[in-house]
Amino acid sequence: MSNEALFNNAVMDDLNIMTVNSVIAAKNLKKTFVQGKFSVPVLKGISFNVSAGQSHAIIGSSGAGKSTLMHLLGGLDTVSEGEVKVMGQSIAGLSEKKLGQLRNKHLGFIYQFHHLLPEFSALENIAMPLLIGGLNKKKAHALATDWLSQVGLDHRGDHKPGELSGGERQRVALARALVGSPDCLLADEPTGNLDSTTAKQMLDLMLDLNQGLNTALVVVTHDMNIANKMQNQWRMNDGLLQRVNE
Ligand SMILES: Nc1ncnc2c1ncn2[C@@H]1O[C@H](COP(=O)(O)OP(=O)(O)OP(=O)(O)O)[C@@H](O)[C@H]1O
Ligand SMILES: [Mg+2]
Repeated sequence: MSNEALFNNAVMDDLNIMTVNSVIAAKNLKKTFVQGKFSVPVLKGISFNVSAGQSHAIIGSSGAGKSTLMHLLGGLDTVSEGEVKVMGQSIAGLSEKKLGQLRNKHLGFIYQFHHLLPEFSALENIAMPLLIGGLNKKKAHALATDWLSQVGLDHRGDHKPGELSGGERQRVALARALVGSPDCLLADEPTGNLDSTTAKQMLDLMLDLNQGLNTALVVVTHDMNIANKMQNQWRMNDGLLQRVNE
């Protein structure tokens, strides 16, 4: 391909991404885990775009690679091949600091196994992304208090993660992921440990943000009630994403 054609392709690429308000654009992602002399190809060439305000559900059997994909989309692990852009910016080659800032500003992440900081209280865990983002302690704690209340945990602010139930920890993780008003929430089984009433409340909270603030949602779930509430549904199968709905 000539230099000019390459240039035009690159411009088109960027234009396509910009015109659809791309929050995350992933192209041809591959991930192979190497363990000793075995290499396990988990993702085999996934292209996946998330635009502002969209909602996506990803379903698929255990071990299919859903969490692996979420980690790549959120810049929490590196690709074997392919490219991830967040807000139009390629994350490969960014310093840890720059990547951290990009994530902090634009993405909220709920891990499958929530990763709260054990030595900090629920309130402090929720306030943490704001403090890291440079907000002063008073404002950060005020916002965190508001989010504690939104997830129904006003009375648990001083508890450390070890003093909370699994479902309460998950709600703290949701509040922590949303407190910074991210452009996209990446949620890996966010309601897995919750009873159906609380799960519904958490889902409604996510959908309200999606509709009210245009927060994009990417939700990995085994719960078809949740998947069906997302505009787009995908199944992870044999290292690729297949569209489930039209
Ligand atoms: N760090 C790693 N090293 C080696 N193999 C890994 C690693 N992380 C994941 N895998 C393998 O990759 C495959 C996909 O794992 P992943 O956690 O993405 O699955 P999943 O679809 O999220 O499953 P579940 O529904 O059980 O959460 C699994 O076979 C797993 O053993
Ligand atoms: Mg998983």
